[in-house]
Amino acid sequence: MKSEMEQDILKVLVTEEELKARVTEMGAELFEKFKGRNPLFLSVLKGSFVFMADLVRACQVQSEVEFIAVSSYQNSTQSSGTVQITRDLQQDITGRELIIVEDILDSGNTLAFLKDYFMSKGAKSITIVTLLDKPSRRTKAITADYSGFTVPDEFVVGYGLDFAQKYRNVPYIGVLKPEVYSNN
Ligand code: XMP
Ligand code: MG
Repeated sequence: MKSEMEQDILKVLVTEEELKARVTEMGAELFEKFKGRNPLFLSVLKGSFVFMADLVRACQVQSEVEFIAVSSYQNSTQSSGTVQITRDLQQDITGRELIIVEDILDSGNTLAFLKDYFMSKGAKSITIVTLLDKPSRRTKAITADYSGFTVPDEFVVGYGLDFAQKYRNVPYIGVLKPEVYSNN
């Protein structure tokens, strides 16, 4: 039997198995780069919380975790363009090597803003890791240092990503049926 959420999914873009394999690979690459450097994994909430949890366990390097929450979508599928910090850093990041962990790099607004913000707070280096990349929609000159999968210009949910705060616990990356948006 399909779960009530799965009935709303039109198609699967990235399966659970593909996610696991790629996150394991990315963790190993980050291990090689960051061993001995005590990086700070910085998750951009809420969308990256599932990826973050899997990535830090796939990268057995001595490290710490931190979280920041931003909002730019306001329950719609279109970015409003302005980024607001809704939960700020809880520690001094001066001199730290940051690994920013994002769910999806879309227009680039969020990461362009956060990169400037973290540099202004004294970060020593910034490495951008995104699970998904949607390069067709980019309006800011931002590229990820590590990207899991390139996705087409479709609104995706699952593995942390939401539509109107729902579907974050779907275990794969999928596209919703059009009627789900129009009913909302
Ligand atoms: P920007 O446009 O600032 O977008 O690069 C980054 C943030 O927007 C959200 N986003 C999505 N969320 N499905 C989602 O659930 C999508 O297809 C999607 N595209 C962008 C996401 O929170 C990301 O951090
Ligand atoms: Mg979101």
